Amino acid sequence: MPQPTSCFLSTDQLVITGGRPLQGTVRIGGAKNSVLKLMAAALLTQETVTLTNVPTISDVTTMANVISHLGVTVTQDGDELTINANKITRNEAPNELVTKMRASFNVLAPLLARCGETRVSLPGGCSIGKRGVDLHIKGLEALGAEIDIEHGMVVAKAQQLVGADIVFDLPSVGATENVMVAAVLANGMTRIANAAQEPEIMDLADFLNAMGADITGAGTSEITIHGVPQSALHGVRYAVMPDRIEAATYLIAGAATRGTVTVEGVRPAHLQAVLAKLTEAGCDITMPTPTALTISAPLRLEAQNITTLPYPGIPTDLQAPLMTLLATAEGSSVIKETIYENRFNHVGQLRRMAANIEQDGNTAIVTGVERLSGASVKATDLRAGAAMVIAGLMADGYTTIENLHHLDRGYEGLIGKIRQLGGTIERRMGGVDTSLAHSE
Ligand code: EPZ
Repeated sequence: MPQPTSCFLSTDQLVITGGRPLQGTVRIGGAKNSVLKLMAAALLTQETVTLTNVPTISDVTTMANVISHLGVTVTQDGDELTINANKITRNEAPNELVTKMRASFNVLAPLLARCGETRVSLPGGCSIGKRGVDLHIKGLEALGAEIDIEHGMVVAKAQQLVGADIVFDLPSVGATENVMVAAVLANGMTRIANAAQEPEIMDLADFLNAMGADITGAGTSEITIHGVPQSALHGVRYAVMPDRIEAATYLIAGAATRGTVTVEGVRPAHLQAVLAKLTEAGCDITMPTPTALTISAPLRLEAQNITTLPYPGIPTDLQAPLMTLLATAEGSSVIKETIYENRFNHVGQLRRMAANIEQDGNTAIVTGVERLSGASVKATDLRAGAAMVIAGLMADGYTTIENLHHLDRGYEGLIGKIRQLGGTIERRMGGVDTSLAHSE
């Protein structure tokens, strides 16, 4: 069972001394939003799957717990995770595991396809929005599954899934993944129109194809899956794609502190929309190698208007970090969140740090101030937590950040990476500095 090298209670605090430009190079890890789906999809084959470039984050541990609960063997050795689903002894993912992490809902499709019947808890909403699963359900029903909701559980049955034409109302990442995975073992051909085009969908399709599936079009809005028999699927060794959101977070931190930061081990093509925005704001971005990006920023950046959109638009997962960056830009920026109805919890926290932000529904107007001022703030979700770290690094004086369990979910070795860039950051547990006791 994988264990993160650093697992802290939520009473921990990050203490940051700000005001110093970040300088240097960091290596980016495997993508959280891909590895979790690859782990779930590994249930499709009875043979052994080895994932490499797996980040040490608590969400990976949670997904390992979910699939171990199903009777699947999971072992970790460094950044390699080995999964063997030769036997699935339980076909039910209970509430306490699914509500902890929405991505657990991705076991629905492989369990249905492998076992013919499954019960998976509804994930429910979270702090950033309602986050329904109607599109997952409609898509699986179109493939012939019989689905009922009983006592908060999705109960899905299908002796044999059958290929179908599916048109999504909106390009949901999770629904595209669940339907694509289910269709791998369906009879005949499935076509998903208005599919999500995120690079993580392509990573999942590449992984499934390496395992013996027949998927084309992933990464575009139309995906075609020709069903294969279960015997056609085999074990595979597969490297998780780099985390584009982690990469952009460090680039934004470099720009926000007016420093020079290089991220290594990235796929620059995945970052085009955000790189274009950072360039418009006045940053200088170069590509020293095909898998590295360097950013440097002038003293004053220019305000930008930002609307979050499905890929290839600006990702909602970077909205909070970008808002923080723009908090000290020249002029007023208008930021519109279109993916989630409630992803502005960081606005109040940034205001505590002297940012000038007006919010009206899903729009925020950020009027640049000279400097942010260190304060005591909270991580209200994972990316809002990253935004607070960036704000702390930009600000005068000390910033303390609480609710670190959010950050632990998705940023591998955060403290070590910030220190490598010259940032002053430490983690205190119950008032005691534990940063030296853990290899971040
Ligand atoms: C994935 O969530 C990511 N999570 C999110 O990252 C990311 O913000 C999101 O995609 C959008 O890019 C993982 O990959 C684990 P969606 P997902 O289905 O799949 C609505 C992070 O910080 N919707 O594309 O849940 C939904 O409510 C996280 O790393 C329905 O209405 O996203 C939302 O408003 C946060 N019905 C919108 O679509 C459905 O059946 C987009 O959701 C499904 C979705």
